[in-house]
Amino acid sequence: MYVLGIESSCDDTCCAVVNGRRILSNVTISSLSLHKPYGGIVPEIATRNHLKFIDRVFRLAIERANIDVKDIGVVGFTHRPGLIGALVVGANFAKALSLALDKPLIGVNHLYAHLYAPFLDNRIKFPFPFIGLVVSGGHTELFFVSDFDNIKCVGKTRDDAAGEVFDKVARAFGLGYPGGWYIDKLFKEEYKDSFKFKCADLGLNFSFSGIKTALVYRKIELEKDRKLSRELIVKLLSSFQESIVKNIVDKTILAAKKYRVKTIVAGGGVVANRRLRRLLRKAAVENKLRLLLAPVTLSSDNAVTVAGLSYYLYNVKRRKSDIGIKVYSN
Ligand code: KG4
Ligand code: ZN
Repeated sequence: MYVLGIESSCDDTCCAVVNGRRILSNVTISSLSLHKPYGGIVPEIATRNHLKFIDRVFRLAIERANIDVKDIGVVGFTHRPGLIGALVVGANFAKALSLALDKPLIGVNHLYAHLYAPFLDNRIKFPFPFIGLVVSGGHTELFFVSDFDNIKCVGKTRDDAAGEVFDKVARAFGLGYPGGWYIDKLFKEEYKDSFKFKCADLGLNFSFSGIKTALVYRKIELEKDRKLSRELIVKLLSSFQESIVKNIVDKTILAAKKYRVKTIVAGGGVVANRRLRRLLRKAAVENKLRLLLAPVTLSSDNAVTVAGLSYYLYNVKRRKSDIGIKVYSN
């Protein structure tokens, strides 16, 4: 069964076609470069660009999958969470397509779609129940996943998301946007403990805004004393990244122990981070847990995971088509 997925929750306009768990096409046009001067996503710019590009992205996805529009069996799209205007563009496109083709419409949660990434283009069995870790620009959440239609949030950030903190800190250091990528590239293991930064301890919940403020104050102090060399910046940011990454890894392992699961699944843009991947792998081995990481190519926003999850919900879980489904920003 061919499933078309549409993702438009943030700055990427994405369409993809899957056949069951097999990826047939994966197309994205991003408005990222237009947001760079602002150091973050401007919702109005994102929305206007979805409108501009969605038709082209859709046509490319069909063409690259080498199918006919009429071959689409199910239309899946992200209906939450995200920027409201951006979601509305994807939702209306998906609804129009579903009506025109007379095919079922499935709305999926963007965060759960991130957790579906490791299950595409392979035959791994779904290892339910598992702890799902989603770390992105808007979210840092831990889920207890009994199945993809039965997911409970067991921990989340009380303030900034991890990706958001990376982006804000990178902006303060004039590094460019999105910040996570720049900080990842700067990281040097030998400097991971050069400075002491500590994340708040909130059980399975996260808080990153305190450490962000601590880092920015440290930077201002060093600037005042004219001590902020390039090397010191790398030391500061390496220590900062290490604290965030360690905190995420520790809480994920804590959740796995508390809920007595054997598997951890991780997805979201920040999961592309090399240090996070390394420490998650190490912790999984030490704690005899199985770890399924989203491939780097599918960790950030895409429509393949949306199409894949829509297929699963429709075909395996027998979810009903709902043309009246609404979008929710949160
Ligand atoms: O999942 P995603 O593509 O979009 C959202 O749903 O938010 O995540 C984007 C976030 C940005 O905050 C970006 O800085 C972060 O992912 N990111 C990274 C890396 N690549 C992207 N963070 C840390 N290390 C990276 N290599
Ligand atoms: Zn995302």
